[in-house]
Amino acid sequence: MSLLVCGIGELVTNDPAIGDGSPLGVLRDAAIVIEEGLVTWVGVAAAAPPADRSLDAGGAAVIPGFVDSHAHLVFAGDRTAEFAARMSGEPYTGGGIRTTVAATREASDEVLRANVARLVREARRQGTTTIEIKSGYGLSTADEARSLRIAREFTDETTFLGAHVVPAEFADRTDDYVALVCDEMLAAAAPHARWVDVFCDRGAFDGDQAKAVLEAGVAAGLRPRIHANQLTAGPGVRLAVELGAASADHCTHLTDADVAALAAGSTVATLLPGAEFSTRSPYPDARRLIDAGITVALATDCNPGSSYTSSMSFCVALAVREMRMTPGEAVWAATAGGARALRRTDVGHLGVGARADLAMLDAPSHLHLAYRPGVPLVRTVLLNGEPT
Ligand code: NIG
Ligand code: FE
Repeated sequence: MSLLVCGIGELVTNDPAIGDGSPLGVLRDAAIVIEEGLVTWVGVAAAAPPADRSLDAGGAAVIPGFVDSHAHLVFAGDRTAEFAARMSGEPYTGGGIRTTVAATREASDEVLRANVARLVREARRQGTTTIEIKSGYGLSTADEARSLRIAREFTDETTFLGAHVVPAEFADRTDDYVALVCDEMLAAAAPHARWVDVFCDRGAFDGDQAKAVLEAGVAAGLRPRIHANQLTAGPGVRLAVELGAASADHCTHLTDADVAALAAGSTVATLLPGAEFSTRSPYPDARRLIDAGITVALATDCNPGSSYTSSMSFCVALAVREMRMTPGEAVWAATAGGARALRRTDVGHLGVGARADLAMLDAPSHLHLAYRPGVPLVRTVLLNGEPT
């Protein structure tokens, strides 16, 4: 059964060979044909071939579904009190992660699964069609493995983050904890994970510890990504480039050497403005990165501590208002950029052969995502060509 999506006032394809020749590949008065979950034809509506069924966008804008390449959805409880304290002037240190670890360990599989399902549904409604999910609130062999098992029920993009922080029972024994992560915990986690991640920052893991975790993960068949330079400029970003990590995430505090390393490598800089918003911190400078030729992605960092939002549109609006991105750059970063950060070529664009994952907006243009912040503009979402 083929499906013709017609009446598209503005189609963002992220294929520069299509349409206006910009990175967004914008085509006006467009249509696309979907067969077996894939885009099989893209062009101006007047030239569209016949199809078995049709869906009329009524002049609305259509964009590729958002690719949220960084989310921590396997957790129990929330941290409203910590948020309120921060908004009254307390700094964010990452120390609250242990509060969520305690709640997560206590929770049943059903409670954790229901929470992930709720957040994935929430994200989907807002146009997210690919989502990465990390462990990192279990921090024991059994709890990390079950977090990843549950995450795998929702996405192939699962990430082992056993090295999120040092759990309370390993206080002052960080090296012992790193050894556990690299050995028994990794062995239990690896069958359920595609990626390995580490929080390399003040109060978490230093450069040597982060390197040990990522190298052990790679040896176990996982691919590296990293939480780096969120709280302070440290070795994380340069380590990511050295190891060929797919992405370095946060990139809030960067030295010139960090920027030069990113520019010389293939690691995507994933920016998480929800975290700066919710921790009342200075935003990363996306303009500096883009002007240096670095590929930038945007993601939510959805988690109960530093960024409890599942809204990619919100991140797009923040990136434009606070991080010196143009609306077009931000929409690209939230779709194609996220796909690059996950090393995926099948999502994040709507060229022929792409997965038919798209968001139809209650708006005539992608510009409205930044222009109308906080407004639920996603009207219809297709996942693999099917309405969700
Ligand atoms: O990406 N930075 C480390 N991890 C999360 C925060 C998790 C939390 O505070 O619970 C982040 O911001
Ligand atoms: Fe994170």
